[in-house]
Amino acid sequence: MDKLDLLVTGGILVTASDTAPLDIGIRDGKIALLAPPGLLSPSIATKHIDAGGAYITPGGVDTHVHLEEPPLFGGRGRSSDTFETGTRSAICGGTTTVVAFAPQAKSMPSLLEVLRDCHDRARGNCYSDYGFHMLVGNPSPAVLKEFGPLINEEGVSSLKIYMTYEALQLRDDEILDVLCESRGHGITTMIHAENGDVLNWMTRKLEERGLVDPVYHATSRPQIVETEATGRAVALAELVDAPMLIVHVSSPRAAAVIREAQTRGLPLYAETCPQYLFLTRADMAHPGDNGFEGAKCVCSPPPRDGPEDHDGIWLGLQNGTFTVLSSDHCPFMYNDTEKGKKSIISEKYPRGHFKGIPNGIPGIETRLSLVMSEARITMQKFVEVTSANPAKLYGLYPRKGALLPGVSDADLVIWYPEGQLSGAEGLTLTNEMLHHNVDYTPFEGRKLKNWPRYTILRGEVVWDRDGDGLVGKKGYGEFLKRGKSSLPGPRKAGEFDISQF
Ligand SMILES: *[C@@H]1O[C@H](CO)[C@@H](O)[C@H](O)[C@H]1NC(C)=O
Ligand SMILES: *[C@@H]1O[C@H](CO)[C@@H](O)[C@H](O)[C@H]1NC(C)=O
Ligand SMILES: [Zn+2]
Repeated sequence: MDKLDLLVTGGILVTASDTAPLDIGIRDGKIALLAPPGLLSPSIATKHIDAGGAYITPGGVDTHVHLEEPPLFGGRGRSSDTFETGTRSAICGGTTTVVAFAPQAKSMPSLLEVLRDCHDRARGNCYSDYGFHMLVGNPSPAVLKEFGPLINEEGVSSLKIYMTYEALQLRDDEILDVLCESRGHGITTMIHAENGDVLNWMTRKLEERGLVDPVYHATSRPQIVETEATGRAVALAELVDAPMLIVHVSSPRAAAVIREAQTRGLPLYAETCPQYLFLTRADMAHPGDNGFEGAKCVCSPPPRDGPEDHDGIWLGLQNGTFTVLSSDHCPFMYNDTEKGKKSIISEKYPRGHFKGIPNGIPGIETRLSLVMSEARITMQKFVEVTSANPAKLYGLYPRKGALLPGVSDADLVIWYPEGQLSGAEGLTLTNEMLHHNVDYTPFEGRKLKNWPRYTILRGEVVWDRDGDGLVGKKGYGEFLKRGKSSLPGPRKAGEFDISQF
């Protein structure tokens, strides 16, 4: 047998389908073989790592990431992470693949041009492997014609649309155009479900009363705004029998709407994020920094009211309502008065105005550890929602999200053996630990029971926490051409046929 490049022994392998003590042989960046413990001698490999009884999982796949985006959302906020700093942060937290957005504003005529620009920003700069979802702001007839080349030539098999934000909000007929055209090409549509008109109205009513502190961001977008839009999005997808993922679901009531549609057999998928498991509205009412500190947790949809909401989202993860758990990493500096959260502070609004707070929080590096430490889902479910399912839904499986010999890339996270990360107490999360280009984490001070000890990407150790830390190289990350989803698609084969109504 040819020598292996790397042999990892002594680990408990966890995939979405299995848990077993298995040694892993790696050659040419791929999983070469799996073997029962004791069968392979370290001498058959150039390099050997002893996992010491710890869990080993496939590298994380984070399919909701905003990096280096041009301004589209109003206000003065600008992404503080580039492709370089964002993907650097990803690998240090165990995520080996990210899918970021390539955003088209209404004024831009071509998706393919937008995609080219994104490639230019990312090429040669990434630490992790990466792909793009198109973010479609203007589904003109010419743009719809680009869907074929997008999936067939560019390897972009998913796109995202919005029911809110002036620069991006689509009308229902435009949403139908996108769903229908996507269905025809085997593209998965992602949708941001909040009713933009209603939340604009809520915002005006709050302004009339002078209620503009950060916490009113939550007041302006209550659960019903999300639940209504989710119900409407589901109806539109059902009408044209198109697969759809509802991104960043925060509300158990919206989750129940999706669950009901799934029970009827519709190809509907849902995503949630750590902010909806750990943060609440109270975090936006933080009294610090003259009452502005809550801006650190302003994102959309907002973190909900309390533990009962978190429980509903955890339940949805346990019972399969949620397909995917992503970060929605959308990074802004806090203490930056030009481009950060503080860009909204003025003489008139010394505590800011919720309407203009750059909307989003960082979380690409903390996603896996936070959720694993909480231990409210099984390890297999953890792998399913953070790695295997996102790879399946976005056409990367089983190259990513699995550990199949001969097929899967050798992307691994080797965790710490239980209780061995800073003792039984665990580790206290601080922003200094992190590798993003952001001056805070909304999860500061949380206790973590585990953290990636090693991250391995295509057979190369890129993160070695007890050694030199970040050891990956900028530019090692490759662009991934993606295929169609391998999760269930339209219920009826063939083109959507209007005459069937
Ligand atoms: C599954 O979770 C969803 C979302 O929280 C919830 O609405 C639904 O009632 C749950 N279903 C079951 C059978 O537990
Ligand atoms: C925030 O930025 C200001 C101006 O650049 C600086 O003086 C101050 O020390 C910073 N504060 C923190 C907490 O970083
Ligand atoms: Zn997002």
